[in-house]
Amino acid sequence: MNVIPKKDFIRKIIVNAIRTHCKHCGTYQKRLRQCILKIPKVRNIVQDVNGDKNYRMILLNENVTLTKDQNEFIASIGGEIETNYELKLGYDHFSTQEILRHILPDTVTEVPSHFETVGHIAHFNLREELLPYKKIIGDVIIDKNKNIRTVVNKTSSIATEFRTFPMEVISGENNLNVIQNESGCRFKFNFADVYWNSRLQKEHDTVVKSILASNNKANEVVCDMMCGIGPFAIPLAKNGIKVYGNDLNPESYKYLVDNKKLNKIVNDKLICSNLDGREFVRKLRNDGKTFTHVLMNLPALGIEFLDVFVDGCMSDWPENIELPFVHTYCFSKSSTPQKDVAERVEKVLGYNPIQNYKEDVRIVRDVAPNKLMLCAEFQLLREGDLGGVVVDVNGNNNDDDGSDNNNNNNNKRKMDDDKYNNNNVINNKKMKK
Ligand SMILES: C[S@@+](CC[C@H](N)C(=O)[O-])C[C@H]1O[C@@H](n2cnc3c(N)ncnc32)[C@H](O)[C@@H]1O
Repeated sequence: MNVIPKKDFIRKIIVNAIRTHCKHCGTYQKRLRQCILKIPKVRNIVQDVNGDKNYRMILLNENVTLTKDQNEFIASIGGEIETNYELKLGYDHFSTQEILRHILPDTVTEVPSHFETVGHIAHFNLREELLPYKKIIGDVIIDKNKNIRTVVNKTSSIATEFRTFPMEVISGENNLNVIQNESGCRFKFNFADVYWNSRLQKEHDTVVKSILASNNKANEVVCDMMCGIGPFAIPLAKNGIKVYGNDLNPESYKYLVDNKKLNKIVNDKLICSNLDGREFVRKLRNDGKTFTHVLMNLPALGIEFLDVFVDGCMSDWPENIELPFVHTYCFSKSSTPQKDVAERVEKVLGYNPIQNYKEDVRIVRDVAPNKLMLCAEFQLLREGDLGGVVVDVNGNNNDDDGSDNNNNNNNKRKMDDDKYNNNNVINNKKMKK
């Protein structure tokens, strides 16, 4: 099928209606709310069938049976029931799902019900069985959603190094240049060339707000190691936080610079780089830069990148400045995902910086059945903070002298084996202020 068969949706239904003086319409709406017709985009109060300007017809749901009380109420204010009111419905009155169900053959068991939007683009990940119908599906989406001008479908679920996905335009304008609003900022980018995920809007906002809420806002400096086109970096810098923003993808870097201009960010508030994340941190340290927060949103590898903080580049960190507070994203398929993440963090750092994994490892969202995205948030520790003790998640303390000492160690991190709590709020007490 090449064209949406709009004529197929024309139909007439017969309903009952109350003919009433227009001054009573509000009273009926209150008293008979459950009975009054509810069909999307269909008026339920219409002109009088007899053309009297002072009268209206209040349409009732199909097959509704009024109670004795309701009939008496209608009569008491002079309403009359008209049976056989003919109502014409068409394509506009049907939902996208209903239209697709009608168009797609019965062999298609599940009609696509969900898509992501990015600016003017609707973004699908269509199942194999729907691919022969991709064009008509796209056409319906554009027809039914006035803000959508382009529909794309992912052609492979295998992400590139830059976390972009191959995609094809299945309907509408061949234009992937997007303008998207988020966290009070505007972002422009090409959807095929850079990473963007509208589902992270809440997470971006949560982290941005938590840093902006710091009591020490004037001294906060953020190092965003994989900043993409800037969903953390741009709103932070726009709100006065100094940010070092970096991404390996040259296209992300280009749009980061463009978005800095677009959002009128003061020059020295956002310093943009196009380096590998580890190289970027080493360069900042080489240049004597310090920072209070590190953002690492590359969930597939994020935890591994923590090794840069124990490879020597932090050794000359000034004595009088605390080490930074890290927010590192990751995935877990474990049945105890927060504990799993805490263990992986410890493995890379060689010590456990997480005090209570139920609070310090937040669940961000479900990404697939049995796969979560999480964010581990903790302060990096100096050797001195550890008291010379490296603690593993099982609570075994390896003192310098090699003896076990589980009872007398302030730095022992509590690792609880209970099933995790879904604590989706950043624990501000633990956040660096
Ligand atoms: C999941 S995206 C996150 C982007 C952005 N922070 C956000 O929240 O939307 C991961 C980003 O890491 C970048 N990236 C991949 N490998 C990298 C590396 N070795 N160093 C720095 N950035 C890298 C990708 O280009 C991509 O923009």
